Amino acid sequence: MIEICNLSKQYSRQPLFKGLHLNVPKGSVVTLIGPSGSGKSTLLRCINGLETFQEGHISVSGQKLYGINEQNYDKAQINQALKNIRRKVGMVFQQFNLFPHMTVLHNITEAPTHVLGISRFETKSNAISVLKKVHLEGKAESHPGQLSGGEQQRAAIARALAVKPETMLFDEPTSSLDPEMIEEVLAVIKELVSEGMTTIIATHEMGFARDVSTHVVFLDKGEIVEYGSPKDIFYNPKNDRTRAFLSRFMK
Ligand SMILES: Nc1ncnc2c1ncn2[C@@H]1O[C@H](COP(=O)(O)OP(=O)(O)OP(=O)(O)O)[C@@H](O)[C@H]1O
Ligand SMILES: [Mg+2]
Repeated sequence: MIEICNLSKQYSRQPLFKGLHLNVPKGSVVTLIGPSGSGKSTLLRCINGLETFQEGHISVSGQKLYGINEQNYDKAQINQALKNIRRKVGMVFQQFNLFPHMTVLHNITEAPTHVLGISRFETKSNAISVLKKVHLEGKAESHPGQLSGGEQQRAAIARALAVKPETMLFDEPTSSLDPEMIEEVLAVIKELVSEGMTTIIATHEMGFARDVSTHVVFLDKGEIVEYGSPKDIFYNPKNDRTRAFLSRFMK
């Protein structure tokens, strides 16, 4: 479903990924864990084309993005590839990034209407169904400022779902929430993954990662140090760096 092959990425001469490989099979739930600065956000942003990379390729449902040092096709083709990837991949950020001047409903219908050119009638009925999915059916006409943090994040999830993506990416979806709102957002994500949506989640919520993942990736300094089942990573980590990282959460 998602294939990351020989990915190399640097920020202004500072190498981050050096030939990284990762396969995310259809229907799997992969959590990215690792210290701050290990490259979790950058990896997610490379997958949906928000970041360029120098070498290697990323394939999402057969649509490929190539490193900028490798590509031998023109700008129009690159733009088409980015467009295709963004239809297949929905992303949810730590900061919800909702448009404050638009209602929740309008936030959700914006991309399908303007980017995908779907009729207002269809996008509206779809928006109502994604709002039900995140348990916000009563908030369609509210503005983001009238919602709690947890509700705003659930609205952002609904917005990402509105383009009917095949894959969802979550970048620390609960890190900016008050503790009492974390559970409601994690519960919505759990419901989504139980429906078989291919999902990659960068998170510092270790209990959640252990419970929802089919696979866990431990990243450190841009390198996949360890990859395995949640059971392997959380109960039987093989690498010292993984053990040291996890021990901070076990206190
Ligand atoms: N736009 C940028 N320009 C230069 N360097 C960057 C940029 N974005 C990220 N980096 C660097 O790349 C590395 C990986 O950053 P990234 O944000 O992917 O880490 P992360 O694992 O998501 O961290 P956190 O857990 O704090 O969110 C860091 O060293 C960071 O300083
Ligand atoms: Mg990050």
